[in-house]
Amino acid sequence: MNIRALDLHDDGRTPPATGLLEIVRRGLRAQPKRLPSWLFYDAPGSALFERICEQPEYYLTRCETALMQAHAAGIADTLGVDVRLVEYGSGNAAKTRLLLEHMAAPVSYVPVEISPEPLQQSVRRLGERFPQLAVQPLCADFTRALRLPIPSRAPRRTVLYFPGSTIGNFDTRDAVALLRKMRGEMGDNGGILIGADLKKDPALIEAAYNDAAGVTAEFTLNMLARLNRELGCDFDLAGFRHRAHYNALAGRIETSLVSQRAQKVRLGRGTVVFGDGEAIRVEISCKYSLEDFAALAGKAGLEVLRVWLDPERMFSVQYLVRAGSVAR
Ligand code: AVI
Repeated sequence: MNIRALDLHDDGRTPPATGLLEIVRRGLRAQPKRLPSWLFYDAPGSALFERICEQPEYYLTRCETALMQAHAAGIADTLGVDVRLVEYGSGNAAKTRLLLEHMAAPVSYVPVEISPEPLQQSVRRLGERFPQLAVQPLCADFTRALRLPIPSRAPRRTVLYFPGSTIGNFDTRDAVALLRKMRGEMGDNGGILIGADLKKDPALIEAAYNDAAGVTAEFTLNMLARLNRELGCDFDLAGFRHRAHYNALAGRIETSLVSQRAQKVRLGRGTVVFGDGEAIRVEISCKYSLEDFAALAGKAGLEVLRVWLDPERMFSVQYLVRAGSVAR
């Protein structure tokens, strides 16, 4: 496939083409040290993420699902008839089912996912539930320019669905670049249906990333286990601790792996030295006010047409269209 990489240094989910060793070497040489968050999502990491979504503290999934249960009919009504629905990072497509149940005569559903296994699973599950629906899976990195499969009939509009507040895993620059790319893909008449987690009591946000069962800590540490497995590193997992802190000024969770002592770790033919208490930044998860998100959309040439909130008003799903395209 002829795809061109955008200038996204960390999309939160997906690997660039550069060799893993080189990426890790560069990140661990940087000051402060950092690793890209797409490294979380190997098979064990993806399974751990599914478990995070079931933790009582991780309100994001619970609230977004409740939102879709409450508003799917209204959302489907806003999207209209004859829609081609393209989902970025289709995952297990649970929320999509709620949406598709209410959509009038969708032209096709295009799940876009870089890992073949979850893609096949979502195709199978949706095929069983919606036998009439044309499902056109696309195994690709959604941060890059996509060549969408040609539908069997012309859609009235293309709607890009990006749930889960995955947009929050991108810093502002990369989030704007991704939204701009999406704006191009949806066309003049299209839209973006996107999940965005909201600012709230910092204690609730921090708890979501520090669950009592320790699943998020295991998920974070799995990144080092992955480097041991794939690059032959010798990270001692007991020598690092998961830390997720809400930076209220920046409006985001900042997740790090913190070295518990001075230590050396093998990387390729060399070693990486860690000081006692030295951190590797591994993820950001941005939280938005409705104004923050409208401003972010505006930077990408988009405007917010509708916003839906869950009953607890913790999470939002927003419908974005091209700025200036709505008759006032
Ligand atoms: C995928 N993404 C929206 C999750 C988040 O909330 O930032 C990833 C995650 N990291 C730790 N817990 C969940």
